[in-house]
Amino acid sequence: MNIRDLPGVGDKIAEKLEEAGYTDVMAIAVTPVYKLVEDTGVGEATAKKIIQAARSSLKMGFMSGTELLERRKEIGYITTGSKELDRLLGGRGVETQAITEAFGEFGSGKTQLGLQLSVNVQLPEEEGGLEGYAVWIDTENTFRPRRIAMMAKAVGLDPEEALSRIRVARAFSSDHQILLAEKIPELIEREGIPVKLVVVDSLTGLFRAEYIGRGTLADRQQKLNAHLHTLQRIADRFNLAVFVTNQVMARPDIFFGDPTKAVGGHVLAHAATYRVYLRKGREDKRIARLVDSPCLPEGEVVFRITDDGIRD
Ligand code: GTP
Ligand code: MG
Repeated sequence: MNIRDLPGVGDKIAEKLEEAGYTDVMAIAVTPVYKLVEDTGVGEATAKKIIQAARSSLKMGFMSGTELLERRKEIGYITTGSKELDRLLGGRGVETQAITEAFGEFGSGKTQLGLQLSVNVQLPEEEGGLEGYAVWIDTENTFRPRRIAMMAKAVGLDPEEALSRIRVARAFSSDHQILLAEKIPELIEREGIPVKLVVVDSLTGLFRAEYIGRGTLADRQQKLNAHLHTLQRIADRFNLAVFVTNQVMARPDIFFGDPTKAVGGHVLAHAATYRVYLRKGREDKRIARLVDSPCLPEGEVVFRITDDGIRD
């Protein structure tokens, strides 16, 4: 079904929608009213009507258990490079249709894990990949092409080809970061790039830097929440994996009293499907612990950061 077939969508509104990247009915159906108003400039009543029409045309609503099972079957996995870490995440690594958050102190391996996934997503399925591309939203200038080349070589990929399959964008403000995430559907649909992984490193850094002081905390959380929902929608719509990082202080003593006290606070705790807490061990060892997972038992595993990348 074309967006122009929706009742209430004439040429003029269709143009506005397309301009803002709403090129298919599903994209409209899963967008909140305020967002559609903001993005396209149509009135609130119109936005409501269009979204309603999109939803009913798609027969959205309740899914049967069988349908849910079908959808689960489409889930793809990207190996982390460590069997132990994969096991912690349910067996095969990070999942599509989900957000995985790595949080921990500086040097705990969050960025290294993101780089490794950006390489591994390119591998064939038998080797733990999805033969896809990665999008990297870089907020702290941490993307390292040389490191990608090292990791690619180690798994038998051509370093230059591997680099060409990663699209990197530097975000300069939280608004810019939000915008970049919203542009991902365009990259996939208009340019036909088979993106299977989106990395945001770091998810929270710019938000934290910009919103200092308690007065604006609610504001920050609300924006971060909307950003996470954008990411989740992209994960669902394109059956891709989202990996985000979140730096927190190394105070496990207080931290485990209330694990949701990470930078993103409660918002992040509920949006991320898998939350992995990383901490430094001896030498190149890192300890990963799963927190708040809906279906997996909490536990700890050890992995290493080597010259070849993440390993057991
Ligand atoms: P912040 O971004 O500061 O919060 O830290 P992070 O959690 O992102 O840490 P990151 O992933 O950058 O991990 C850095 C650690 O990875 C370093 O301390 C090194 O131990 C290790 N590392 C990085 N590059 C290499 C490399 O080329 N070879 C090896 N063996 N280890 C590396
Ligand atoms: Mg980092």
